[in-house]
Amino acid sequence: MFTKLAESIKKRPIIGWGIFFATMVVVFLLGLFAASITERRAEIATLFHNKKVDIEGIEARNEIWGENYPRQFNTWKKTADMDFRSKHLGNMPEDALESRPEMVVLWAGYAFSRDYRAPRGHMYAIEDLHATLRTGTPDTDTPDMQPAACWMCKTPDMPRLVHEHGIENFYNKMWSHYGSEAVNPIGCADCHDPKTMNLTITRTALIEGCTHWGKDITKATPQEMRSLVCAQCHVEYYFHGPDKVPTFPWHKGITVEEMEQYYDKIEYYDWIHTLSKAPMLKAQHPDYELFLLGPHAQRGLSCADCHMPYLAEGGIKYSNHQVTTPLKNISVCQTCHRDSEENLRNYVYQYQDKALEVRNRIEHELAKAHIMAKTAWEKGAKEQEMAATLKLLRKAQWRWDFAVASHGGSFHAPVETQRILAHSLDYTLRAQLELQKVLFAYGVTDFKMPDISSKAKAQEYIGLDMKTLTQKKNNWVKTVAPKWIEEAREKGRLISKK
Ligand code: HEC
Ligand code: HEC
Ligand code: HEC
Ligand code: HEC
Repeated sequence: MFTKLAESIKKRPIIGWGIFFATMVVVFLLGLFAASITERRAEIATLFHNKKVDIEGIEARNEIWGENYPRQFNTWKKTADMDFRSKHLGNMPEDALESRPEMVVLWAGYAFSRDYRAPRGHMYAIEDLHATLRTGTPDTDTPDMQPAACWMCKTPDMPRLVHEHGIENFYNKMWSHYGSEAVNPIGCADCHDPKTMNLTITRTALIEGCTHWGKDITKATPQEMRSLVCAQCHVEYYFHGPDKVPTFPWHKGITVEEMEQYYDKIEYYDWIHTLSKAPMLKAQHPDYELFLLGPHAQRGLSCADCHMPYLAEGGIKYSNHQVTTPLKNISVCQTCHRDSEENLRNYVYQYQDKALEVRNRIEHELAKAHIMAKTAWEKGAKEQEMAATLKLLRKAQWRWDFAVASHGGSFHAPVETQRILAHSLDYTLRAQLELQKVLFAYGVTDFKMPDISSKAKAQEYIGLDMKTLTQKKNNWVKTVAPKWIEEAREKGRLISKK
């Protein structure tokens, strides 16, 4: 055979060259393959053994972690992107009061009536907290309107400060006290133990909340931890007692009624409504609690399964840290569902649109009920004539807020969300029935709604001087906030702004 080959090559040398080049190509490919194996090994080794920096204690500066974990860091940085809008949500800024002015009336007397924007990426947590009219303009002449507790869900500097000062000493201060300390946006130290990179809980309020609810969080499975890290912030909470300590109202359970029972028992209210005088509750964002009652959680999914799916890069699998709406990369649903992207998107939109139908009705009727109550008071209605109505208004609005403030609720738990909205509408209309009787007794037969068809009109109606508030805030954002950032940079607490 070899003599035959040698003879053929002698006759046609091209065959010899052909064999030579084919061999070279094979050797080259083998070389590439070997190199890629060593490279992958090296990458894995870098990740788990050769960390570039040793992270000690609570390191709030995300850039330091980024040196050890560039993939997670680079995707995390993309939470700053503003490039996607789904039908109802997305990562772009949206002025929710502009789109739904009736909410201004629902929150009359509470800071949310000044300013409320749809959430965007984690990277903006600090910037948006500085910018919102809800934090006011604290400086040497103007007192704070918010407690230190406001930092809880915005920054890994918060657990660092609690560790340094102790819980009581942290919470008994006002918001601006930590202006130059709380500067890094939501990041690595919020969710990870630097030694093992295991998921960890840094907000003790969640641990206590679980204890009250009867769950031992130390026994949580790794899959449960993939939701619990989010439950540090995406939950319902209130600020308890004179020191304003963030507390989860889970003592009787995590449904909307069980939390209400707890609030009623301790006679808690967030504010007195300035139009109706009802003692109101403000729901925060019970994403976690509602999610638990939905079909995906009941099949064992966690938040990270949809909001932080795995990515692959050169054979390395890692979690996408660009936490945003899953509709931006809807292929994440196709890991489990054999459905087209269009169908999957439409399932989400159907749930959301149906919840929105009821939501629109509630906001319209509930705003009207508050204003009817205002009219009744003006006509001389007595406390005992109004008592039942005020309770109904509190119940109606708590349910409405609970269902809509959890921005993903109508998809995460569609049936539970509709159930809650249905009860809200029921309580709203019962309040109106009671109010009709009172108004009739005082001779009001021609109740008319004021014009609250835009944010500006609604804010004027409830008596907000938006021009002054906005001017003061713009000035504050240009003068005070930059000083905080500058000081943080000088003291080495902040490496980069974004
Ligand atoms: C909101 C919580 C959260 C934040 C903030 C966060 N992570 Fe993660 N991280 C997770 C979750 C959830 C996982 C998946 C863990 C699992 O499946 O066990 C993860 C996984 C990881 C892993 C393991 C490998 C992987 O990708 O699955 C590394 C390394 C990591 N994160 C680094 C970082 C770094 C660096 C930062 C800051 C830039 C960061 N994380 C910020 C929640 C977070
Ligand atoms: C330390 C508190 C904190 C933790 C932990 C946290 N979040 Fe957030 N999240 C926020 C805040 C605050 C915002 C709003 C930021 C803004 O608008 O400036 C937000 C915004 C979001 C948004 C809207 C962003 C967009 O682009 O649509 C999603 C989705 C989200 N979070 C999901 C999660 C998930 C999933 C987890 C767990 C893996 C998680 N969050 C963990 C506080 C937190
Ligand atoms: C089965 C997939 C899935 C799981 C699991 C999941 N979500 Fe979502 N989430 C969605 C979808 C879909 C939306 C709607 C996005 C849209 O309309 O653009 C959403 C919306 C959100 C939003 C509002 C986003 C925005 O842009 O305003 C937040 C916040 C959120 N989810 C947090 C969570 C948290 C916290 C958990 C766990 C407790 C969780 N999600 C679990 C699929 C999921
Ligand atoms: C990790 C797997 C997984 C992922 C990822 C996932 N799902 Fe599911 N989904 C399930 C399971 C399991 C069920 C329950 C199926 C059943 O019982 O037939 C379910 C049920 C559903 C249902 C029916 C809900 C009901 O009311 O019963 C819809 C709609 C749905 N998913 C849409 C989505 C969308 C949209 C996404 C992406 C944003 C998504 N899923 C991501 C596993 C997943």
